[in-house]
Amino acid sequence: MCGITGYIGYRDAYPIIIKGLQRLEYRGYDSAGVVLYDGKNINLSKTKGKVSDLQEKASQEISIEGKIGFGHTRWATHGVPNHVNSHPHLSQSSNLVIVHNGIIENYDTLKQELVLRGYTFHSDTDTEVLINLIEEIKIQEKCKLGKAVQLALQQVVGAYAILVFDKEKPNELVIAKLGSPIAIGIGKENSEFFIASDATPFIEYTKNAIYLEDSEMAIVKIDREIRIHKINDDSLVEDLRIQELQLNLEQIEKGGYEHFMLKEIHEQPNAITDTYRGRLLANKGVIKMGGLDDNIERFLNAKRIIIVACGTSWHAGLVAEYLFEDIARIPVEVEYGSEFRYRNPIITENDVVIAISQSGETADTLAAVKLAKSKGAFVFGVCNVVGSSIAREVHAGAYTHAGPEIGVASTKAFTTQITILALMALKLGKIKGNIAAPVYQTYLQELIQIPDKVAQLLEEDAHIKKIASIYKDVPNFLYLGRGYNFPVALEGALKLKEISYIHAEGYPAAEMKHGPIALIDKNMPVVVIATRKGHYKKVVSNIQEIKSRHGQLIAIVTKGDIVVRDLADHIIEVPETLEAFTPLLTTIPLQLLSYHIAVMRECNVDQPRNLAKSVTVE
Ligand code: F6R
Repeated sequence: MCGITGYIGYRDAYPIIIKGLQRLEYRGYDSAGVVLYDGKNINLSKTKGKVSDLQEKASQEISIEGKIGFGHTRWATHGVPNHVNSHPHLSQSSNLVIVHNGIIENYDTLKQELVLRGYTFHSDTDTEVLINLIEEIKIQEKCKLGKAVQLALQQVVGAYAILVFDKEKPNELVIAKLGSPIAIGIGKENSEFFIASDATPFIEYTKNAIYLEDSEMAIVKIDREIRIHKINDDSLVEDLRIQELQLNLEQIEKGGYEHFMLKEIHEQPNAITDTYRGRLLANKGVIKMGGLDDNIERFLNAKRIIIVACGTSWHAGLVAEYLFEDIARIPVEVEYGSEFRYRNPIITENDVVIAISQSGETADTLAAVKLAKSKGAFVFGVCNVVGSSIAREVHAGAYTHAGPEIGVASTKAFTTQITILALMALKLGKIKGNIAAPVYQTYLQELIQIPDKVAQLLEEDAHIKKIASIYKDVPNFLYLGRGYNFPVALEGALKLKEISYIHAEGYPAAEMKHGPIALIDKNMPVVVIATRKGHYKKVVSNIQEIKSRHGQLIAIVTKGDIVVRDLADHIIEVPETLEAFTPLLTTIPLQLLSYHIAVMRECNVDQPRNLAKSVTVE
């Protein structure tokens, strides 16, 4: 789950690598490192900490010259985050150097064999084992770097995206992939190559990129050559699959906001519009969605839908359970990717599996997709990152088009995922005749109002910030919601704990009396989602139960509510909408509340401790 980036061409590599690593820091920020070849020597610098720490260290300890080099930003898997475990890793001779994203599962066995052959190891990493295995094969087989990498990888069990350089072959970089993503940006007429875990490090240099497939390796050379072949045999990949990237620089910069998370919260009106643009033709009463339309029979004949996802995407899946069952009357089960993949689930050819993932790279969700496919289910992806592993693995899918989400805490991904899933439920409900034409039409007309309503809510920022200042120092928070807003309660609690490190729990409001009510006293802030639709009266009863125990109540209510206003310590009003769309609104103040509390606690909002944006390890 690390970020890797490299360059080979006619420009100075160092600034490209450093900027690239900063853009990839969302993938991990335990340590960072860079290596450059200046025409004579390999110059390597690495450190525990962030890319900014590396920058300071590298400029003092190495020559930053060179037109070829690469770097790494790490999320620790094998070995604690410290200097020696940081990447890049040199081989024993110091002639070979590597960066790696992934896990070599059989590294211990390989290490023992190498130790017997006289290798000594300085780090606890699986990566140092791999580079020495490559070196050993190169010596034994008397072969070139590319062949040695290929033969080494044939012995490896696990996942990797790697970049390797050999001082004895200083005009090329070797790249390989299995399970972890890697893209190659191609300069004009192959004059330069950029390599990175995603395309953000090279977007200002080229729009042409190749995403390596699993079990492929590439050799890129300074003399304008690129060759891709399979790792398991020598067959050449003839079609280079060069894609034109849709990303632009503005999308991946902060645009005047203090944090990416705040920018992304504020992008939601546009992101939701971009999600339904061209798909929702409200005035014509039409929903068009290629991936769904082309496979509509699979959905209509499905005995059930199984949703697989992790984290915030799993919460969007829970909202979808309400949407699909309520509107389309299709039974739904929502599964954590990590549980699903290991519990021998019953999956049949009549099941439709929907995988939800912002990054499209989450290892557990990807494994669940592969498992479902192997059992004959039809698998549909809801991803944000175009060309990501899950997007490529599924039978069909729909992109959320939310634009890059860089803040580690997911915000616009959640609301855009719900938007896509609502469109799907509505289309299926309409075809199945479960919702009458006027009701269907009301849904469509309301959905196009949502971005404006989100924009109105964002204007409540100062009010929410004031509430945040009152509760910023509490140790615990409780979040309650019912029906469509139960998943929002879970999501609100997750947002708070991951960026502010305050312990928070989400519960269905009625479950409170089965245990969590014992936690409530005058020191416990309880956030209750109490919009006027759905189970309003029942939630009001829950609120009364909280007040009788002197809990501090922050209520998310529908504009104009007077009942809860009298009971709550603070209210945040959301515009009126249909019950099914309330999560698209109620989640916004909870995102802002977490954001402001975390900023006031001086937490690193965009890069919370121990986390990374895409979780490509299980
Ligand atoms: C929480 C968060 C994570 C992700 C989870 C799944 O704010 O960002 O819980 O939602 O790691 O990631 P994706 O959606 O990329 O599969």
